[in-house]
Amino acid sequence: MRIVRTIDDLRKARATLGELALVPTMGNLHAGHVSLLRLARSHATTVAATIFVNRLQFAPTDDFESYPRTFEDDCEKLRAEGVDLLFAPDERVLYPRPQAYLVEPPPIANELEGAFRPRFFHGVATVVLKLFNCVQPDVAVFGMKDYQQLMIVRNMVDQLNLPLMIVEGETIREADGLAMSSRNGYLSPAERAEAPRLHRQLQAVRESIRSGRTDFEPLGEQAMHELHGAGWKPDYISVRRREDLAHATAADRELVVLAAARLGGTRLIDNLELRAP
Ligand code: PAJ
Repeated sequence: MRIVRTIDDLRKARATLGELALVPTMGNLHAGHVSLLRLARSHATTVAATIFVNRLQFAPTDDFESYPRTFEDDCEKLRAEGVDLLFAPDERVLYPRPQAYLVEPPPIANELEGAFRPRFFHGVATVVLKLFNCVQPDVAVFGMKDYQQLMIVRNMVDQLNLPLMIVEGETIREADGLAMSSRNGYLSPAERAEAPRLHRQLQAVRESIRSGRTDFEPLGEQAMHELHGAGWKPDYISVRRREDLAHATAADRELVVLAAARLGGTRLIDNLELRAP
């Protein structure tokens, strides 16, 4: 695996490579990331990854400083998956000057995650566009775990006519249902035992909808109330239509229920797609 740190070296390496699929990450790789690398492999002859903890998508109170950085372990995993190229820039490479030009995502970026993490998607969209411009992939792979991120990136590629295809990967879960996440490492043993409740709560919402409920707002509120009773601090549990993440109505069929909640000091997100009867 070729590791490049500068945009110059990246461009030189890229020029020698053919069709390329990219998996952007912030490192601390787990089986979820690995599944995306494998998916990338099925879409192009060359697979590249990026590791960059993007300060622009962290609020001052977020975990930017403490975000797990495990570069050597990550390289081992990438090598084991046969990744050809890793772009791991320093902050000074990607942000040599304060980033004054920013991608302005549409209003949906201010709902759900964006309502609790103001300007989060400005930071995500901006760095993803920069990474696309640096690496120039033909395909880029994103996880459904970050459902709203996937939708915003997809729409950015579409509306800005970026010459690449976005591919989505299923959410990889632990045996007990907890969606894999770099932030799971923050959980104490007791919290780790409690954490799968978030997924179970989403399944309960799905079952209620499958059995005919269409009062989506109260359903979400009830699910939040139950999480709260189990000691969580839920930010949202919301039933949306898949297409544009607008609030679901009884007329919508293709739905997704999205959730974010704090367990102790750790903020977890998850979602589940479902089809209304
Ligand atoms: P990160 O959290 O490292 O995630 C990198 C990619 O892995 C994202 O596409 C995410 O959706 C996917 N992923 C995370 N957990 C997953 C799981 N359990 N199953 C499947 N895929 C999973 O998302 C980011 O980084 C950043 O916002 C980034 C896009 C790199 C921009 O900075």
